[in-house]
Amino acid sequence: MDSKLQRVKLSDGHFIHALGYGTYKPQEVPNSETLEATKLAIDAGFRHIDTAYVYQVEEEVGQAIKSKIAEGRVRREDIFLTSKLWCTFHRPELVQHGLKTSLKKLGLDYVDLYIIHSPVSMKPGEELFPTDEQGKTLFDTGDICATWEAMEKCKDAGLAKSIGVSNFNRRQLEMILNKPGLKYKPVCNQVECHPYLNQSELLEFCKSKDIVMIGYAVLGSNSGKEWLNKDNPVLLEDPVLVALAQKHQRTPAQVALRYQLQRGVVALAKSFNKERLQENFQVFDFQLTPEDMKALDGLNRNIRYFPDSQFCHHPDSPF
Ligand SMILES: NC(=O)c1ccc[n+]([C@@H]2O[C@H](COP(=O)([O-])OP(=O)(O)OC[C@H]3O[C@@H](n4cnc5c(N)ncnc54)[C@H](OP(=O)(O)O)[C@@H]3O)[C@@H](O)[C@H]2O)c1
Repeated sequence: MDSKLQRVKLSDGHFIHALGYGTYKPQEVPNSETLEATKLAIDAGFRHIDTAYVYQVEEEVGQAIKSKIAEGRVRREDIFLTSKLWCTFHRPELVQHGLKTSLKKLGLDYVDLYIIHSPVSMKPGEELFPTDEQGKTLFDTGDICATWEAMEKCKDAGLAKSIGVSNFNRRQLEMILNKPGLKYKPVCNQVECHPYLNQSELLEFCKSKDIVMIGYAVLGSNSGKEWLNKDNPVLLEDPVLVALAQKHQRTPAQVALRYQLQRGVVALAKSFNKERLQENFQVFDFQLTPEDMKALDGLNRNIRYFPDSQFCHHPDSPF
């Protein structure tokens, strides 16, 4: 077991597990799948669980955690749970309400990490993706620094142990880092990250500021098909990845996960399948060589599986 790579220290002193279980699912998949899969993930060894208000599975994620606590398999403090502030809750007076709504759904008193899901603000209200009569997204004129100050208050209130951001570019991170009177800096930036979009420049910047990068779509995703560009190549079929998997007698998914861990990126992986879930957790007992890492670095080609088409017309769109 490579215990050195299993947990990463955050700038606020808390630790995050380097491998996390992702709970995003397409709408057509019943929520009961998330409940069962999250329980299987905990059984497989995952202790870091990533969810979000917008995934609409917080009830099931909370139920899965509580059932594993009731079974005596884990304690609440063994689990590192992340949820995310959705874009319709960016106004400072709504931030704590957004978090309390998530906590109520989860049935828990606190999350370990609460992150701003995206720098783009949308019109407050019940709708997750508010639109006008023409179907155009209704944005809000957000001040991300004011949202951040409200996030700081959530940490002070003990509702979130750590606070961070997601889908922020360097300029947006700098806006927060340079904010006058900053009380807590973001502990993380959760972004799409895989060999086809390795985010090396952003990673270097984050490391220089002691911000942990958390990668999503590390396996190339393919859930949420309505958001994905179907012309994109399938990451796990990439010949370099496949050859490295053969060399190490592993699977392409394990190599893709291990690649992130060795570069200091916390990796999320989602699966609803018991065998693949277990497979994804078996990444602490082999090592990629510097040459392997270089070959994987060479695959970078600016392919985004999440093109952010809904947000690209907003001035705060990060990409
Ligand atoms: N912050 C953000 O904006 C953001 C955006 C997207 C995602 N996320 C988070 O990141 C998590 C992971 O991203 P993701 O769900 O998009 O994609 P992902 O983890 O890269 O890929 C998931 C897909 O890969 C398949 N898969 C899983 N393990 C596999 C294996 N060992 N071999 C072959 N295929 C495998 C899964 O299918 P099966 O289920 O059939 O195994 C699923 O279809 C999400 O669940 C969510 O928590 C955050």
